[in-house]
Formats: sequence, C-alpha cells, structure tokens
Amino acid sequence: MISEKIRQIKPSATLEINRKAKELKAAGVDVINLSVGEPDFDTPDPVKESAVQAIRDGFTKYTEANGTPELKKAISEKLEKENGLVYSPEQVVVSNGAKHSLYNVFLAIIEPGDEVIIPAPYWVSYPEMVRLAGGVPVFCRWDENFKMDLGHLKSLINKKTKAMVLNSPSNPTGVVYDKKQICAVAEILLKNNILCISDEVYEKIIYEGMEHTSIASHSPEMKKLTVVVNAVSKTFAMTGWRIGYIAAEKEIAAAVGKVQGQTTSAPCSISQKAAYSAIKGGEKLYSGMIEEFRKRRNYLVENLPAELHYPVPMGAFYLFFNYRDMDSVALCERLLEEKFLAAVPGADFGADKFTRISYATSMKNLEITVQRLKEFTSENK
Ligand SMILES: Cc1ncc(COP(=O)(O)O)c(C=O)c1O
Repeated sequence: MISEKIRQIKPSATLEINRKAKELKAAGVDVINLSVGEPDFDTPDPVKESAVQAIRDGFTKYTEANGTPELKKAISEKLEKENGLVYSPEQVVVSNGAKHSLYNVFLAIIEPGDEVIIPAPYWVSYPEMVRLAGGVPVFCRWDENFKMDLGHLKSLINKKTKAMVLNSPSNPTGVVYDKKQICAVAEILLKNNILCISDEVYEKIIYEGMEHTSIASHSPEMKKLTVVVNAVSKTFAMTGWRIGYIAAEKEIAAAVGKVQGQTTSAPCSISQKAAYSAIKGGEKLYSGMIEEFRKRRNYLVENLPAELHYPVPMGAFYLFFNYRDMDSVALCERLLEEKFLAAVPGADFGADKFTRISYATSMKNLEITVQRLKEFTSENK
C-alpha cells in the first residue's frame, strides 16, 4: 500500500535512542536528555502577548498564502538591516517553519534525478527532503576544520547538479563559515551556475565575535543564485509556533508560493502576528539566551574529558564529538544504558564515528553530564 518514495525514507536512529530514554525516564531513572534540538528558554513575553492580542482581535482566519504583507515587509526590512540583502516583500514567502520552507523549495526546483550536494555532517532532514522531492542527495566530505572539502565539492559537480545546501552556523557541528570561506564556496557555485539553499536558522546563535555572513551577500550574481532560508524558531525560542521563511529571486519565490498555496493555504495567522512582534523586537529579545548558551558552551569546552575530540562550536547549541573512533550508535546505546545520557548518533548526520550533544539544557544537567562522561572515559581507556 505504501509508495516506494516513502518506503525509501530512512527511519531515524535518534528515535530509537529517544524511545529508550523515555522508557528509562518513565521507570524513574535520572536520564539527562542531550538530544534536544530547540532552545530550553521560553518564548519572550511580548511575543506571547501579540499572539493573545491576535486571538482577541479575531485574527484567526486564513491569511495571504505567502504570509501577511505586514510580516513579509518586516522580514524584508530585517534582511536589509541585518544581512545587507535587499529583497522586496514579494520575494519573501512565509511558511510553517524553516523545515516547511526547505521542503517547498526542493519541490519547487528539483526535476526528477537532479542532484543536490549536501555537505556532511548535515542536518538529518536534508537528504530525505531531497529524495521526497524526486532528487538525488550527493554528499560532500568535510575537511580538517569540519567545513566542506572544496576539492571534493568541485569533483562532485556535473550536469545533473542543481543545487547545494549550505548551513552556517551548522547543526550538528556548530562550525561557522567565515567571509573568506563563504567567498570560496560562492566562487565555485557561480562558476557552475548552481543554486545555493542557504539555511541560516542559527544565524544569531554565534560566539566570540564571529559574524554570520549570508552567501547571498557575496555579490549580486550570487544573490540571484541563493535561496535564503531562516525562521524565528531558534532565535526567539519559538520552535512550536512554526514560522520560517525564504527570500529569493521572484521566479523562485513565486514557485514556492504556488506549492504552498495548493498544499498548505497559509501559515498560522496567530503565529504570524507573534513572528512579526519577534522580528520587530529584535536583539533585546534573544541576547540573554545567547549569553547563556555561550556560558554553557565554555563550560563544556573547559571541562569535557580530553579523550573527546570535537570542533569547538562557534555557533548553534550543539557539540559534535568523536570518542576513540567508536561507532556512534553503539556509543550512544552504552551512554544511555550505563550513564543515563541520551545523545544523538552521528550516523544520522552522515558521520557515524561522531555523537551530537545539545547544550540546550541547564548548567546543572551539563555538570552531571561532564561528571558521567568523565566516569565513562576513565572506565573505557
Ligand atoms: C539546520 C536546521 N534547519 C532547519 C531546522 C528546522 O527549523 P524549523 O523548526 O523552523 O522548521 C532545524 C531544526 O532543528 C535545523 O537544525
């Protein structure tokens, strides 16, 4: 009964770890959940208030399919002010989270058999979304800094290559591409006329004076080849509100709008009011959260056992480590069973000797985590 397309989709190794973690928790075991992919902070009060007001005002009907003019204008102003990118509101499409935006984009651009280059380690959903849209994911190796190996990238490009995904700051590694690296990638894409799907959802969660650079700001030519994807989800601790967006050339934005109009009608009206208030509120709404993430990251980097090897995260809220080249599924199972730590195997991210932990959890939990990891590494020398 089930289509081949859906049968092809890989079940996630993360789900099995989560299932076991829940089972242990229900049995009263003190499991520390390090698998979380969302800020552990609450949505800021002014944002909540705008949503309550929207409900009271009866702003509860379908909106324009691509998002309200008010929100699209706020996004276009944000892109100009914060990213130096000029997009008119008609080049913006608001969707139900960045994940939805990304899927709309893949549906809008992929012909059957088109190849999409995905640099590993990658966020789990990219390959599956590309496959669902009829495309073929092609994986680019990482270099010693966990950025894409540009030599490998060049060798992967062929007539079928349609697009490449860029995710900086990255989930799962936390690495951030600087201007020079963005420039090197842009030059390869420009030379070969390849679209860049630039997933910038972690742009504000960034440390030590690193600056987020959107590849669209490289040059007017590169801007034409880029689809900027962003969301209020991570920046404003609004994962449950489901608002993401794209900005792109008019032709692409119109195609994405067409997909959305026929499949979803519009993003949630109330959440759009909340997202408007978040984007207008800006930095003061999230700076405290970023400061807290920075403290936690510093604590981990200063205290994790030396046997764990990882790129020091410069953004997002994940740390991606290798421990004695152990297979990550086996390692995560042992961490859960022996130390009650729930982490995510890197196998899901295209790096099976690595494990992802999220520091979107309290400092107290991180202290216990460090303690238990120290015990584990000293018992397994
Ligand atoms: C790299 C990346 N892109 C996109 C998303 C999806 O964001 P949203 O919750 O807005 O759909 C996530 C969520 O984990 C992510 O890590």
